[in-house]
Amino acid sequence: MKFANDFLFGAASASYQVEGAWNEDGKGISNWDVFSKIPGKTFEGTNGDVSVDHYHRYKEDVKLMAEIGLESYRFSISWARIIPDGDGEINQKGLDFYNNLIDECLKYGIVPFVTLYHWDIPQVLEECGGWTNKRTVDAFVKYANVCYKAFGDRVKHWITFNETIVFCSLGYLAGAHPPGIKNDLKKYFQATHNVFTAHAKAVVAYKNLRQFGEIGITHVFSPAFSIDNNPDNEFAAYHANQYGIAWYYDPVLKGEYPQYVVKYLNENNLTPEWTQEELNIIKIAADDNDFIGLNYYQPQRVMKNIKFENSKESSRDNSTGAPGNVSFDGVYKTVKMNDKKYTKWGWEIAPDAFLEGLKMFKANYGDIKIYITENGLGDEDVIIQDEVVDVPRIKYIEEHLVAIKKAIAEGINLKGYYAWSSTDLLSWLNGYKKQYGFIYVDHKNNLDRKIKLSGYWYKQIIEERGENL
Ligand code: BG6
Repeated sequence: MKFANDFLFGAASASYQVEGAWNEDGKGISNWDVFSKIPGKTFEGTNGDVSVDHYHRYKEDVKLMAEIGLESYRFSISWARIIPDGDGEINQKGLDFYNNLIDECLKYGIVPFVTLYHWDIPQVLEECGGWTNKRTVDAFVKYANVCYKAFGDRVKHWITFNETIVFCSLGYLAGAHPPGIKNDLKKYFQATHNVFTAHAKAVVAYKNLRQFGEIGITHVFSPAFSIDNNPDNEFAAYHANQYGIAWYYDPVLKGEYPQYVVKYLNENNLTPEWTQEELNIIKIAADDNDFIGLNYYQPQRVMKNIKFENSKESSRDNSTGAPGNVSFDGVYKTVKMNDKKYTKWGWEIAPDAFLEGLKMFKANYGDIKIYITENGLGDEDVIIQDEVVDVPRIKYIEEHLVAIKKAIAEGINLKGYYAWSSTDLLSWLNGYKKQYGFIYVDHKNNLDRKIKLSGYWYKQIIEERGENL
């Protein structure tokens, strides 16, 4: 089987992780500009001040992407570059940068797939409560409208938010991302509701402009599986999927929150402050939402948590289903299993669980169009005679593309695959050590670029439309 011609083969990045130029050309300060400079918050104090300097080297990067044959580039816009204080004046130089980037992609026939929010919020808004403050919702809709109007003639694929569960749980429960708050369930659930409202309003605003593109949201996709068929553990997996999947996907795709979680929130005085108008717009937007983006890295293997233990520490690697965590309510824990494979950072490699999860997804959410907006292997790449020989990455991506092929054969409506990532980039908490890219960036040598073995391999896959996978 070949992938259909309208299936997009791409790669992805995010503004803070690649751009650098943190204080140039009128850009405002973002939460990450501040947070990454607090001692002890990131791996060896790394930050995105320069990152891989995509801001200045985007032409070179897009040219390399074209050499790889990428059909699409998913990147995010830095809100603070467009509206430095989040809610006020527009920065023309910020618009210029993205206009140029978009035009550069189109020059090579690369489809720009734009994420409006990949975690870098203007610091001014963060200081006013960030996503817990409803003012941020209105500011986001304003910012989204500015982007639609400036870029919508050429950008026809929009993602409102990247991985709400990650930035809200790390921001308000684990304290590992800005604003660095720990264990505040009230704020966590309020922030998620405000994000869903902002998504809904941004979808409706986009449709009102009649630009005839498509808009959706990207969520992490970490389906939970019980470690065995013990009913207690099976219940634990159900519970995990209610909080990790239904809470995030239901409002966007079904237009309402899962009753299972709402009941818990009501009983525990955690119900977000929501108005009927907000709930209505969430309902309306569900019909207008064109697709869902899934970021799949790993499943969760869960079992009932017998004795309440706290997670080891607050970090990225123990937050999104990676083994060794206890859920916030102490009901279940995620575990490492002897018969599974793991990356150096302890993330399970499980293409079979990907396929299984996609089947569960279809059973629950039907035929909504799906893009895999991230999937990839974080590794320390091997260099032999000046070539980056990232064979484990090739194997990883191949196995996941095979799972996608099987899913398509089973009638799952998959329309694109974006490897994470295009170039090597800054991992939020793991610095530059954890590499993901098709394009190597040499931090010891002027940030020089070089296509890795995986890039050449991906080129061939694209040319053959995956026939020989
Ligand atoms: C995804 C994010 O959750 O995971 C990316 O959308 C991130 O921004 C990626 O880089 C990999 O995470 P990490 O922690 O390995 O860099």
